[in-house]
Amino acid sequence: MPMRISADSCFVVLCVLVTVVAAAPAHAQVSPASGEAVYKTYCSSCHDQAGPRVPPRDALRKMPATRILRTLDFGVMMAVAYPIRREERQAVAAFLGTNEPEAAPPRSAFCSADRAIMSAPPAQSWNGWSATTSNTRFQTSEAAGVTAAQLGRLTLKWSFGFDGDVTAFAAPTVLNGTMFVGSASGTVHALDVRTGCLHWIYQANGPVRSALLGVEDGGRRTLVFGDQIGWVYGLDARTGREQWKTRIEEHEATRLTGSPAVHNGLVFVPAASWEETRAIDPKYPCCTFRGSVTALRVRDGSRAWKTFMVDPPKRTGMTSLGTATLGPSGAGIWAAPTVDARRGVLSVATGDNYSHPATDTSDAIVALNLTTGRIVWSQQTTPNDVYNSACGRMGANCPADNGPDHDYGASVMLVRTTAGREVLVAGQKSGVVYGLDPNLKGKLPWQTRVGQGGTNGGVQWGMTTDGRNVYASVSDMVRLPAAAGDPPLGDARFDPAQGGGLTALRLESGERVWFAAARPCDPPRPGCSPAQPGALTAIPGAVFSGSLDGHLRAFSVEDGRVLWDVDTAKAYTTVNGVQAKGGSLDGAGAVVVGGMVLVNSGYPRFGGTPGNVLLAFGID
Ligand code: HEC
Repeated sequence: MPMRISADSCFVVLCVLVTVVAAAPAHAQVSPASGEAVYKTYCSSCHDQAGPRVPPRDALRKMPATRILRTLDFGVMMAVAYPIRREERQAVAAFLGTNEPEAAPPRSAFCSADRAIMSAPPAQSWNGWSATTSNTRFQTSEAAGVTAAQLGRLTLKWSFGFDGDVTAFAAPTVLNGTMFVGSASGTVHALDVRTGCLHWIYQANGPVRSALLGVEDGGRRTLVFGDQIGWVYGLDARTGREQWKTRIEEHEATRLTGSPAVHNGLVFVPAASWEETRAIDPKYPCCTFRGSVTALRVRDGSRAWKTFMVDPPKRTGMTSLGTATLGPSGAGIWAAPTVDARRGVLSVATGDNYSHPATDTSDAIVALNLTTGRIVWSQQTTPNDVYNSACGRMGANCPADNGPDHDYGASVMLVRTTAGREVLVAGQKSGVVYGLDPNLKGKLPWQTRVGQGGTNGGVQWGMTTDGRNVYASVSDMVRLPAAAGDPPLGDARFDPAQGGGLTALRLESGERVWFAAARPCDPPRPGCSPAQPGALTAIPGAVFSGSLDGHLRAFSVEDGRVLWDVDTAKAYTTVNGVQAKGGSLDGAGAVVVGGMVLVNSGYPRFGGTPGNVLLAFGID
């Protein structure tokens, strides 16, 4: 999912990139280990030239290699790096940067001895992607500690900066008053929810955006999470000590973005990938990644089962340029699986196929047996969606008759209606929300359109429900053509007045109850979008929704009127001494717990505003 480069988004930087690649026939011979060759192919055209906005090569030489790698993985060079393979990224970072470790947090950022970890009551928790395994992202009033009527009293209590990062995208978890959160640098933090002081930090191998899931395991609490290069970790929540780690995916383009889920000592880890963007390179043999769920024993990280969403790829032919094509591929899983213990199944929502042949498990809701991983049923909502990022530019790797790129990026919600019936609810990038019957193999009793949908549109990261209504916000960002005088990385030409919107649907029928139109950016600055792609969160009476313009708002569940509105896109002096900034809200949504509203701000991807701050609002 969610987003990738589309026909209507030939960002300036990518157009440049294509020129760079096309002008470099030597590319095919680039040795993966040669950082210098990677630099010449992909970086020198900009960084060897003096320019007002491009840091010269000498400046890059003073940066730690770890930070350069992060810039390619999740920073301002992300779009440039799409077709660059993992080992090439590492090689160019090592070639350019220093070996110096990055600065550790100051002593003053750590908690004093009298603030014990996980010492608050168990109610002060939000464990994993959602407060419960049903993935409804609904917090009860007891756990929320703040009512809809009190939202006007929220003020900023503390902020925490992710030093050197340009994105703050990780989903927070809170267990007994302690917050656990990853970051783009791969540093995982245990923070006191009241004050933001640090209990411990742990360094993962890759960036961590999945929520950390706390699992009881004999008297111990293990935190399980994945990173953006295929590793899964089990840490002791109390100490941050590593119990185990295991690489569940070998494919170099792997991304473990979806948060894990747990049942009976098994944790289920969904896998997705960047491979669609690799296909921009006309010499890349597309495609071989397969979406999957891996079940690991929380005890030791050993594998209980693994189920792929498509069969192993085979050679299918070649492109007009003579590059091999492979398939089936894709059907990545971007969101946390949903446990249905009563029926013994795990529901996941999948993305598109990257190459032919199309499969019936792409853009689908798939139910797997919890103990064996066997696929029990699958309900496809968009057939023949074969798409990769070459399609945005008529690239050779784009399949003829390509599909609309309508992945699922949001978890399926398992909800009990007020009438006592259970419903699965899924929201797609197509802009359509589906009600599915879990007793009838996902038969579709209702479907309702809530937005236009598209490559960067529709429902992206998550909906919420209070058991009465389903609340779905959409991205539907609109891009304007690049104009003369735009900055060199100016993919930020959003229409400041179009996109976004929040719809309430009756859970029983999918009937529309109300619609809250997005507010245009104020002031209507270029590069600002009112799109609402981030995951929603609900408490009784209110729904929280973030926007690319940096605003976090709470809407009344009665009629969609705004109850609370804060602009997070500002500068902050943080409790850990980092000068940080807020930016676009996207990806993981807000978490409400113990009278606090917690949110990460900053998401530069696809033209959003960078930022590196975690904000904690509380009532007095
Ligand atoms: C199309 C031109 C272009 C190409 C190609 C390019 N860069 Fe950049 N790079 C820029 C610009 C412009 C900036 C400044 C961005 C900003 O400050 O917003 C930048 C900034 C950076 C930074 C500094 C980020 C920070 O945290 O301050 C690093 C590191 C970097 N580039 C590495 C690379 C590497 C490595 C490559 C090749 C793989 C590369 N760039 C290719 C234009 C380019």
